Amino acid sequence: MQVIGFNDNSGYYFARDTEGGIVVLDSWKRGGDRTNSNYVIMGTAGVGKSTVAKHLILNEFMTGTKIIMIDVEREYKELTENLDGDWLNVGSGAGGIINPLQIKDVPLDYENEQEKVFKDEGKGLGAMALHFQTLRTFFKLLFPELTTIQVSLLEETLEELYNNFDIYWNTDISNYRNIDFPIMTDLYELIYKKINITYEESKKKDYEILQSLIRTISVGADSALFNGYTSVDTKTNCICLDTHNLQNASERVKKAQYFNILTYCWELMSKDKEEKTMLLCDEAYLLIDTQVPQSLIFLRNIAKRCRKYERKSNNNFTFYY
Ligand SMILES: Nc1ncnc2c1ncn2[C@@H]1O[C@H](COP(=O)(O)OP(=O)(O)OP(=O)(O)O)[C@@H](O)[C@H]1O
Ligand SMILES: [Mg+2]
Repeated sequence: MQVIGFNDNSGYYFARDTEGGIVVLDSWKRGGDRTNSNYVIMGTAGVGKSTVAKHLILNEFMTGTKIIMIDVEREYKELTENLDGDWLNVGSGAGGIINPLQIKDVPLDYENEQEKVFKDEGKGLGAMALHFQTLRTFFKLLFPELTTIQVSLLEETLEELYNNFDIYWNTDISNYRNIDFPIMTDLYELIYKKINITYEESKKKDYEILQSLIRTISVGADSALFNGYTSVDTKTNCICLDTHNLQNASERVKKAQYFNILTYCWELMSKDKEEKTMLLCDEAYLLIDTQVPQSLIFLRNIAKRCRKYERKSNNNFTFYY
């Protein structure tokens, strides 16, 4: 008689357990301690984590689940192409830009919600106000050297920038097109103007520091990655966002782009709540930053938030180190 290690009586073959028994898993099954569909795949280097992830992806895709992958090591290109998916090189700008300044069209949190994607601060905030929390994390990851005063000057400038684009705290941006949002060069130019109209020495100095930092992502070395209207476009049910070209970039650029992609993924996931979606975050350790815990909190909150959509669908979520 065949040993059955674990059997959901639906789903697919997952693995064998230590006794050699077959494990058949239905990741959408609920009941008992199965309260969500999230996985964390952990293990030492080279133990087979990505291989397990590919197995899960393939099985989920075959049963109609939409797949979104963040791929740091270029390990999922072949799989994506075999599934006729969208393979997007978002590690150099060559395969499209995700504009960090584009306000994401995500569901807003409400007062009575327990699990907010934007913890503690989402109470009835409009889209722009929520996006400021994302931007705060993004700029902290990219420029950890910013002082509190420089951060507040940056935020003041950003507020003015959005206002110049007719976007205010409570503007409904759901019908805005990608080209309706500012890009990094717009921010750079506005900071430049600020320098010229500021006479207070210390403030002027802070604006100059801001300008030199924003320069790298607007006209400098990292502009290809961060400066431009969002141009990534997805048409299929299998999307791979590849950042392999960043392998030689600085840790801060890698982290900031990973976070930027993640916010884009969340927008994709929440767009159609009727759809079963699986998000795979390979090398998710990149989101760990003791100075900026907000990036990991964002990931945790997505994991919690997708469970809330379950009555309509089953948003799945997978990540591993
Ligand atoms: N069950 C298995 N049996 C035999 N070989 C395997 C098995 N799982 C994975 N491998 C092989 O081991 C190698 C490493 O696997 P994989 O890339 O999945 O590991 P990983 O844990 O994701 O590594 P990393 O820590 O570098 O991300 C690959 O060549 C893969 O084909
Ligand atoms: Mg791996």
